[in-house]
Amino acid sequence: VTVVALVPAAGRGERLGAGRPKALVPVRGEPLLTHAVRGLLSSGSVDHVVVAAPPAEVEGVADLLRPLGPAVHVVAGGAERTDSVALALDAALGVAPDAGIVLVHDAARAFTPPSVVREVVDAVARGASAVVPVLPVADTVKQVDADGRVVGTPDRSALRAVQTPQGFTVDLLRRAHAAAEGAATDDAGLVERLGEPVATVPGHPHAMKITTPFDLAVAEAVLAGPAA
Ligand code: CTP
Ligand code: MG
Repeated sequence: VTVVALVPAAGRGERLGAGRPKALVPVRGEPLLTHAVRGLLSSGSVDHVVVAAPPAEVEGVADLLRPLGPAVHVVAGGAERTDSVALALDAALGVAPDAGIVLVHDAARAFTPPSVVREVVDAVARGASAVVPVLPVADTVKQVDADGRVVGTPDRSALRAVQTPQGFTVDLLRRAHAAAEGAATDDAGLVERLGEPVATVPGHPHAMKITTPFDLAVAEAVLAGPAA
């Protein structure tokens, strides 16, 4: 089965505050996006990669990724992450009309181990229509109201932090995006709105999302080094 990975990389990186799009911020000499795409390809489970780049950077991103080979394609992303994924999905159907499995993987999770990519693909190949990698939550999580007052404490043992890549059958992700009204913070959330089941596989600490300068320091110190 043909596997295509969509890489939303069109965000501005405002919380990182590096003065350029986060996907283009270097760690150990290479942009986060390069690390992310190389990780997908090195899993051996991904046939094509479609990157949604910041619209002003499409040419530069295509040049940047050309050394990774002809399996990598670059399109312009959109205003919200959901838009960027939808645009990449449209392009993917042209690049790989025979695709059966689609992954959605944040450029910001640049150091996701290839083994996680393989486990997500394998879970879809074995019959799950939607799969997300998850980790237990270490912090107790409170629900608060608009004034910041605590209204509840969900049972932590039933909570999971969700990572990417998230894996789907192509048909299900197309349906989820076609039905999407408004942005969602992840693609499985759109599938849930359809009432379709979402399975989980174990995530990995190295698949953390690089959001803040602290996260970037962790990536420089730990994630880009020899396997920990
Ligand atoms: N993303 C995207 N298109 C957007 C917004 C986000 O492709 N319009 C991508 C980002 O590039 C990132 C992933 O979605 O790889 C997760 O988003 P996030 O971590 O929020 O990145 P940014 O939006 O760049 O960061 P910030 O919210 O701090 O500006
Ligand atoms: Mg964002």
